[in-house]
Amino acid sequence: MNQHARMDLAPIPFIDVAAQRRRLGRSVDDAIARVTAHCQFLGGPEVEAFERALADFCGARHAVTCASGTDALMLVLMARGIGPGDAVICPSFTFCATAEVVVLLGATPVFADVDEATFNLDPAGVERAVEAARRHGLRPKAVIPVDLFGLPADHDSIAAIAKAHGLYVLDDAAQGFGAVYKGRKLGTLAPATATSFFPAKPLGCYGDGGAILTDDADLVAVLRSLRVHGQGTDKYDNVRIGLTSRLDTIQAAVLIEKLRIFPDEIAARDRAAMRYGEALADVVAVPVVPEGLTSVWAQYTIRLEPGARDGFVARLKAQGVPTAIYYPIPLHRQQAYGTFPVADNGLPVSDRLAAEVISLPMHAYLDDATQDRIAGAVRQALRG
Ligand SMILES: Cc1ncc(COP(=O)(O)O)c(C=O)c1O
Repeated sequence: MNQHARMDLAPIPFIDVAAQRRRLGRSVDDAIARVTAHCQFLGGPEVEAFERALADFCGARHAVTCASGTDALMLVLMARGIGPGDAVICPSFTFCATAEVVVLLGATPVFADVDEATFNLDPAGVERAVEAARRHGLRPKAVIPVDLFGLPADHDSIAAIAKAHGLYVLDDAAQGFGAVYKGRKLGTLAPATATSFFPAKPLGCYGDGGAILTDDADLVAVLRSLRVHGQGTDKYDNVRIGLTSRLDTIQAAVLIEKLRIFPDEIAARDRAAMRYGEALADVVAVPVVPEGLTSVWAQYTIRLEPGARDGFVARLKAQGVPTAIYYPIPLHRQQAYGTFPVADNGLPVSDRLAAEVISLPMHAYLDDATQDRIAGAVRQALRG
């Protein structure tokens, strides 16, 4: 094998966190060193500075940081008093955390189907899920649209349905933070938005972290109490049952540096997505971005013909191209979630997507040559 052929088969990272680390260089090391010098490992000045910067970035009035994206979802539901007998409408085709927090609070997730083109919550499915909740004797209280793979959900339609049924909207923007919906950034489209700083997310930190974005000052006051054991005037004054869920100061310091380059990275991801589209749209179903929306491309997910996925994955693997399946089992089929109600038509789109989707390498540092190699391998793998 000559050197050129060997290079062609070199493994490609699915997400290249190390390339970003190289770009950030000393700025992140210095930011961490400042925290290790001042030693305020929790609640240091970087936390408040990051909360301000994050809120300003998306145009929300407030940001409240916490320990993870899962906690961000949970803290909002806790603040809303969601509990036994309450139904929270969730898409089935999502990461489990969306529904997990509902169950942890003793409430019931009711699963709705997603849209065939965008993979996001189908507004008609939300209506059917509300009916299913009522048939099960539950009180429909909230809906959690997910901005899946980085693409905003159909927020206008969901807001209208939520208004009609008195549902609170909690936007799960763990994958979509930074994306735009009709001129507004996620973080401003629902009364509360949760996001995650898990390292592989478009805006990730160097461990776990999360935040809630909102314009609601009363909610902020309750969230700040809940994240420190339900504290009142101080943490030894407990006015409600809470959690310990703070963003470490070191993570806030890292995120301040990463937020500075985030707009550039979003542009680079979008460019990579456009290039994939140009290279692949004639041979496979590529992602759809509705007019007026942008995606931050947490994943670049294509859809294959039924039954084609296993062979496709194996052929790409042989070429050194990694893939990932988000998500192989929709939540309503999972052992842990299979007993919860689903909208009455079943969830056929979630079932089909789980069997047919596959995600390709996507990150802000994907160079043209590597991407061309991936696209070439995809075209070849599709030919069988
Ligand atoms: C849609 C969605 N919701 C919630 C979460 C939970 O975030 P975290 O891992 O920070 O708890 C994630 C990611 O992990 C996610 O993808």
